[in-house]
Amino acid sequence: MTRGRLITFEGGEGAGKTTQIKRLVDWLQRQGIDPLVTREPGGTAAAERIRALLLDSANAELSADAELLLVFAARADHLARCIEPALASGRWVLCDRFTDATYAYQGGGRGLDWSRIEELERFVQRGLQPDLTLLFDLSVASGLARARQRSTPDRFEAEDLAFFERVQAAYRQIAARAADRVCVIRADQAEESVAADVKACVAQRLLDRC
Ligand code: TMP
Repeated sequence: MTRGRLITFEGGEGAGKTTQIKRLVDWLQRQGIDPLVTREPGGTAAAERIRALLLDSANAELSADAELLLVFAARADHLARCIEPALASGRWVLCDRFTDATYAYQGGGRGLDWSRIEELERFVQRGLQPDLTLLFDLSVASGLARARQRSTPDRFEAEDLAFFERVQAAYRQIAARAADRVCVIRADQAEESVAADVKACVAQRLLDRC
């Protein structure tokens, strides 16, 4: 049995990941691949409860260290009970955010040491890395405007512009360091053009086609 592929989707707020994931699923299905779609934090019943806690503005005072540990607690459950079994059974997994988000938000945004995140990453992932990461890059101001239009801001969306500038800078740093894994997608284009870039990237990097 060939192991499935793990594709992760990253970017700041309002970058259009959800729409693009749906479009990629449709396209992959036409190629004969029926992927499992999941998200972080979340993806299992327990991890979804951790997500609710993390996003709830009532927990504004949660410490940055507690936030980091909760993110990885959710990830450990998600990996063990959802992602790993799916990959082992040959299924492709599309995951809306993964550990790059931890480097960007808890590392960049909150200012936690990357070395601490690396330790937890080793402990929880035991070497597992996405086969491909699509990073949706959009100006912070337009992303935030889109996200805030959608609903009342959650605990992260309520952060200030400087926080999201640090998140974006961290994502760009990751993309530069891990260019073999991360594909940067310009998210300030029309939805169709973004979808075309996503397809081209997946076809080229994972399907051996253009
Ligand atoms: P979403 O808005 O893409 O659904 O993501 C939920 C929020 O969780 C988003 O504001 C980013 C944040 N987050 C982290 O802070 N660290 C993480 O490791 C992950 C996966 C998400």
